[in-house]
Amino acid sequence: MAETAPATNGTHNSDGVVAQASGSPATYSAPSRVTLHLGHLPSKKDIKAPWPRTPSRVDPNNPPWPAYRGYHEYSFAYATMGVRLPTILGKAIDDASRTMNEQSAEDKIVDLVECLERMDALMADLSGNAKLRPIVDDGEGDVALWNKEIAKYFQGKDFMNAPWLFAEAYKYRRLHECFSVSKYWKDYDVFYRQKCDTFSRSTDAVFELSMRFADPFKQSENMSDKEKAESERLMFLELTQVCLWGNSTDLSLLINMTEEQIKSLQSTGGDHLAATEKNILGNHLNQLWETVKVLREKTGGRIDFVLDNAGFELYCDFVYADFLIQTGLAKQIRFHGKRYPWFVSDVTRKDWDWLLNTMVYGHLFPKASEVERESLRRLGARWKQYEKDGRWQYEQHPFWCTGYTFWDLHSEAPDLFLHLSRSDLVYFKGDLNHRKLTYDCAAPASIPFDVAIGPMANAAGAPKICSLRTIKSDVVVGLGDDGDAIAERLDKEEPGWKISGKYAVVLLSEGRPGEKVRFA
Ligand code: F6P
Ligand code: MG
Repeated sequence: MAETAPATNGTHNSDGVVAQASGSPATYSAPSRVTLHLGHLPSKKDIKAPWPRTPSRVDPNNPPWPAYRGYHEYSFAYATMGVRLPTILGKAIDDASRTMNEQSAEDKIVDLVECLERMDALMADLSGNAKLRPIVDDGEGDVALWNKEIAKYFQGKDFMNAPWLFAEAYKYRRLHECFSVSKYWKDYDVFYRQKCDTFSRSTDAVFELSMRFADPFKQSENMSDKEKAESERLMFLELTQVCLWGNSTDLSLLINMTEEQIKSLQSTGGDHLAATEKNILGNHLNQLWETVKVLREKTGGRIDFVLDNAGFELYCDFVYADFLIQTGLAKQIRFHGKRYPWFVSDVTRKDWDWLLNTMVYGHLFPKASEVERESLRRLGARWKQYEKDGRWQYEQHPFWCTGYTFWDLHSEAPDLFLHLSRSDLVYFKGDLNHRKLTYDCAAPASIPFDVAIGPMANAAGAPKICSLRTIKSDVVVGLGDDGDAIAERLDKEEPGWKISGKYAVVLLSEGRPGEKVRFA
């Protein structure tokens, strides 16, 4: 979407938006009329705005293509910053008030009242569009990263004119600060109830999967080698889709969803998945299969998941990861979660533990049959065993809860980059991770994934990356040569296609594994 350079006397701000020059002074006498002859200049349609920015001019306030900002009414940023975030914060305040009403000890109550006061102040800042202030030093590992980024790029910026990605992440960091500076409520999760509740209302899909996958994956002895290979390929493709579409039940978008709505989003049967494959607009599923097959030839790889949402999505991730382990495609899997509550539904260590333990010990599904409950227990027990023997590991680097995009991962978190560069394949789940991979900017839909993710594809040591994302926000890349036409058609025929979660991408980068990693 290259923009035509403006032929006006307005000034061009960092996103290519033309600001009108101010009015003339009162004593000004009109100049005599001058006629310009522009025939020798290139025609207007040939003039392209300078997108993408050259890499040396890219920074968090100036992405490679125009940023989305809260005041851009055409973007989902506008609805999110103006309506969704205050609604989410309002519900968080209700949750903390409910917890306060359940307390008996005065010192804990007083401490929580102070958290609530800080939340009210955050609400006032958000709805009053305050300037972004530094984060208070609460001892978290990310404070320096936050404050450096604010000082370097966002001084004087407010919630609406900072890039949407940064402003939205900042809001969740400020929400964490409301609790992290307290005495008793440092780790309080205002979204925990919602996360648990949505999983418990996902009955049908939970048992559909547990009944199919509780028994370890085994192929019939009567099949030829060729048939076995084909059935394994099909199973891989199906489970990749289960993992992908598990991302469509995201609490930050589906506030107050009914059980029926959850059910229709979570349908996981084979027929359903065959039909949904046509909604994968950028589809590298086959290349992905070719990639993982090679891992097994090398006696099984290390695969990483940069997780997104807790509850049902995490459960789908586990089903998929279980298959990767059982089939020997992966020998070891590392899961990367968040250190504190993030974008409502994202996985924290507590959510991880809760899911595994509730599967084994919980009584969440009173209406389920004993056979169904047993299938869930068996799956949970197997997965806990993976964790005990180290085949599955949970990690939570501070960088994942910052406002930086992943273009800055190698420079701002070199230890994490080095760690990921040792992986054979890194899955990034969900919409927010995709926004961070692609700098959340108005890149053309035809731009190849490898170009859109910049250093995550081209820095020395970049691992192979696979983004499994249902499309829930404006940035869309990797749709192939016809991508711009596809996006234009959908814009016309299905307005809202970028936020509905109906469409998805499965995009794989080339990676530069094996290269020596250098740091400045
Ligand atoms: O785009 C809408 C949104 O809520 C964003 O705020 C965020 O990027 C995303 O969806 C959360 O979705 P996910 O859980 O898939 O990252
Ligand atoms: Mg999320």
